[in-house]
Amino acid sequence: MLIFGIETSCDETAAAIVKDGREVISNVVASQIKTHQAFGGVVPEVAAREHLDSINVVIEETFAQSGIKPSEIDAFASTAGPGLVGCLLVGLNAAKTLSLVYNKPYIPVNHLNAHVCANFIDTDLKPPFTCLLVSGGHTQVINVSDYGKQEIAASTIDDATGEVYDKVARLLGLPYPGGIQLDKLAQSGDKNAFKLPEAKVGDDEFSFSGLKTAVLRLTQSFKDAKIPINDVCASFQETITSTLIKKTVKIAKKNGSNTIVLAGGVAANSRLREKLFELQEPQNGGFKVFAPKMKYCTDNAAMVASCAFFNPMKVKNPLELEVFSRG
Ligand code: KG4
Ligand code: ZN
Repeated sequence: MLIFGIETSCDETAAAIVKDGREVISNVVASQIKTHQAFGGVVPEVAAREHLDSINVVIEETFAQSGIKPSEIDAFASTAGPGLVGCLLVGLNAAKTLSLVYNKPYIPVNHLNAHVCANFIDTDLKPPFTCLLVSGGHTQVINVSDYGKQEIAASTIDDATGEVYDKVARLLGLPYPGGIQLDKLAQSGDKNAFKLPEAKVGDDEFSFSGLKTAVLRLTQSFKDAKIPINDVCASFQETITSTLIKKTVKIAKKNGSNTIVLAGGVAANSRLREKLFELQEPQNGGFKVFAPKMKYCTDNAAMVASCAFFNPMKVKNPLELEVFSRG
């Protein structure tokens, strides 16, 4: 089954063709980073207009790279939410239009489920598993018992992981998007340089606002002296990744799950991936672990097409579905 997926929930205009949910035939991503860099973050109105400018080019390029004709596609899919409404509308209407023109089904997809499905690409991963989903808007541990069957076991009560990365990066004066910059600096810093707090919250909660404030206080404590920025980044990264992994392992054990999966933009983080792969060692639980390839961690449409195959939204009349901002 060939599915054509479109993703426009935030600041990437993306399209992809995926066979049977696992084999990527073509994958095109047009990033808007340069546009938003001038503002220090994503400006929704500007993002929506850029999607409009790019969508047709991205769709044409995706077909061109694949050598597949639109009439050979079995279904057209797009992210229906959560995300920025004006942005989502562009992708959703493009996918609905293609489905009407070529008389094939339109399959709406939930963006968070799509991130999880990035793990099915080029792998033999099968449920059940426990997934740590960490993106710019969400932080969740999800128990996936079967395709399309998932239960949220923990989520953040304040900032999402990617959001904390971006905010801490900004307070350290790093350019947007901050997460990846912070990760780079952390790699040459001393992770034990500063002791930062881990929030004492329930097993089903994450909280990062205290950590964010602690980094702010730490930077202020240097007064006029030069901030050892790499060490601050490394210490912050060590604290947040260790909180995320500890809680995920606890939930996986409680759920009797022997497979742990990473998903979302922050799944691209070097230390988080390192810690995940350490879980394979017998003394760390001997888990089977999966993380998407780097290009499928941040927003892309291959994961959308994969999700349309494995975990489509269950709605009666997909062509009548509207976009949604939260979920
Ligand atoms: O999943 P995603 O592309 O968009 C959302 O659905 O939110 O995630 C974007 C988030 C941003 O906050 C970005 O800073 C963060 O993922 N991110 C990273 C890294 N790469 C992207 N955070 C930490 N380390 C990275 N290497
Ligand atoms: Zn995303």
